[in-house]
Parts: sequence; C-alpha cells; structure tokens
Amino acid sequence: MKDRLIVALDLPSTAEAEAMTAQCGEVVSFYKIGLQLLPVGGMELSERLRRQGKKVFLDFKLHDIPTTVEKATRSIASRGGDLLTVHAEPPVMRAAVAGRGDDPDLKLLGVTVLTSYDDAMLTEMGYRMGARDLVMRRVEQALEAGMDGIVASPLEAAEIREKFGDGFLIVTPGIRPSWSSQDDQARAATPADALRNGATHLVVGRPVNAASDSADAARKILEEMGAA
Ligand code: C5P
Repeated sequence: MKDRLIVALDLPSTAEAEAMTAQCGEVVSFYKIGLQLLPVGGMELSERLRRQGKKVFLDFKLHDIPTTVEKATRSIASRGGDLLTVHAEPPVMRAAVAGRGDDPDLKLLGVTVLTSYDDAMLTEMGYRMGARDLVMRRVEQALEAGMDGIVASPLEAAEIREKFGDGFLIVTPGIRPSWSSQDDQARAATPADALRNGATHLVVGRPVNAASDSADAARKILEEMGAA
C-alpha cells in the first residue's frame, strides 16, 4: 500500500517540506510537489527525495502550445520524476507523450476537469457538456493519446473503471479519512472507498501535512487502505 499513498507537500518552503518528509521517515514513500514549491526549489527537492529512494509526483498541470509542452516535458524528464500532470486536451497530451520519449520512469497523467469547476462554470467558458460528460470524454482521449492514466475525483473513479477497464492509473485527490476535517473538499471519499472505486493512487494533503504528527496520520491512512 505504501506506494499507493501520495502525500502532497503543499507547504510554503522546501525547508518545511523536508522537515515533514524527515518526520515521516520510512512511513511515506511517495510525495507530490506542486506549483507552490516549484518556483522555490521544488525540482531540487524532487531530486533530493528521489536520491533518498522516494517517488515524486510532479503536479505541474502543463497546458500550452504543443511544441512548448513537448520541450517542457523533455526538460522535466531529464531532471527525473515518477508522475507528471498535463491538462487532458488531446494536443497537449500528445505533445507530452512525445516529449517524455522512452523515459521508463516518468508516467504521464491527464487532468480531466478541475474539481473547482461545476457545470455552470463550464457553460460560462463555452463548453456544451457538463463536468461528468467532459470527464468521460477526456479519459477516452487520454487513453487514445498514450497517457498512463488520469487524475479524477474518487467519486468518478468507479464509473471510469466500468467504462474504460483496468489498464491505466487513476490518481484521486479529495481523500478524507473519517477522523479528519473535510476542509474545502466538497466531494471527498475515505481512503477505503477510493480504493474500492478503482483508484490506484490516493493523494492526501492536509490530513497529513497539517497534522501535529504527520507520520502517525500517514500510518493510520495506510492501515485504512490495507483493511480495504
Ligand atoms: O489538502 P488536500 O488533501 O485537500 O490536498 C489535495 C491535493 O490534491 C492538493 O495538492 C490539491 O491541489 C490537489 N488536487 C485536488 N483536486 C484536484 C486536483 C488536485 O485537491 N482536482
């Protein structure tokens, strides 16, 4: 289960992130570095964690013209990483697949529809389908583009598995154990439910990174995952 729990390092500095990874020690083996840490040493932190034997999810959500996405993905692959997100639009995903080349480590994930968007916002932006239909369409397009998986809500995972089968990664944020606060995650699921719905990896942020004892919080989540 250890390789299926990804702890989000949503912290303001690499010093604070490393204090937490040191506290978690051997309990946590996979970390997520996002846009908050990227400009303040996130890539260097990723390299240090990988040298310690940890896996790193680079949640950079690339979205640009294809040539730029291809070059950015090549640059990121040259520094090393285990998971990288790009927005799940076909030209963006095809460019990322080309840029990754034959790097055996770096797996590519499509971000289907941001969970902060609801149907009304999609209509305002000019989309003619709601979030659920757009998620399903983009999963299909991600698989066609040669992506390794997608990021989705744990509540969407079961339907995605039913429609598209088992041969790809589903990484789900929005995880809340029963003992933790919901924070701003409106559509959260417990670790056990997310796994039962077909998630391969769970991304957990505040229940671990804001806990007074992060290692203990991660241990409790791993126990819940194991029981499922
Ligand atoms: O603290 P919490 O567990 O809510 O953190 C979840 C992490 O997953 C954050 O880094 C957040 O940016 C990310 N995420 C999310 N929902 C998405 C995509 C990413 O919560 N749809």
